[in-house]
Amino acid sequence: MTVPEQIDALRGRLADRTFDVLFVSAGVTNRPEGTVAQTSTEEFVRVMVTNALSPLRVIETLQDLLTPTGTIGVMSSGQGSVTNNERGGHEVYRGSKAALNTFMRSYAARHEGEDRTLVLMAPGWVKTEMGGEDARLEVGESIPHVVTTIDDLGGRPGLHYVDYLGRTVPW
Ligand SMILES: NC(=O)c1ccc[n+]([C@@H]2O[C@H](COP(=O)([O-])OP(=O)(O)OC[C@H]3O[C@@H](n4cnc5c(N)ncnc54)[C@H](OP(=O)(O)O)[C@@H]3O)[C@@H](O)[C@H]2O)c1
Repeated sequence: MTVPEQIDALRGRLADRTFDVLFVSAGVTNRPEGTVAQTSTEEFVRVMVTNALSPLRVIETLQDLLTPTGTIGVMSSGQGSVTNNERGGHEVYRGSKAALNTFMRSYAARHEGEDRTLVLMAPGWVKTEMGGEDARLEVGESIPHVVTTIDDLGGRPGLHYVDYLGRTVPW
């Protein structure tokens, strides 16, 4: 994800293929957590490059492999919502997902009038290495709904910021 030459190499390996859906899921959070000002520059850069810059590089590099009516999705987070950030916490991670959302809005603006569906997905709080043991949802309680929601949004061009149940998330 973070090495442009490797994204280009993937593009080369897939050159003969056509896809209906491109979904970019990879992401990281910073450890240890702290306020944004407490975070080392190195860790800040790692999270921002992985979560905000790299998904757009992947999309820009692979978009030509998609059908004209295909769907481009990115794993965002409910924590990317500026409106819903009333409790703070996870500051760098939140900032990276809010940045990702904004970059996707810019991408959508550049591609206005095209037939592709664009999705920013908030999968819920899920028990993974990142989500931890206290998370509300098992992977099996989130991801099948993520897939269904992405399928259901097919044929509805433009950018949708939704959760795993298809509910709109406020920006
Ligand atoms: N879990 C949650 O509650 C939750 C909530 C909202 C959003 N999300 C988002 O959902 C996505 C998946 O997270 P997760 O919960 O499954 O976390 P995870 O268990 O930590 O998995 C992260 C995934 O991202 C991959 N990855 C990280 N850096 C990468 C890189 N530079 N290049 C390629 N792959 C890389 C990892 O690959 P390796 O295993 O090879 O390192 C791993 O497959 C992330 O974007 C996360 O922000 C998760």
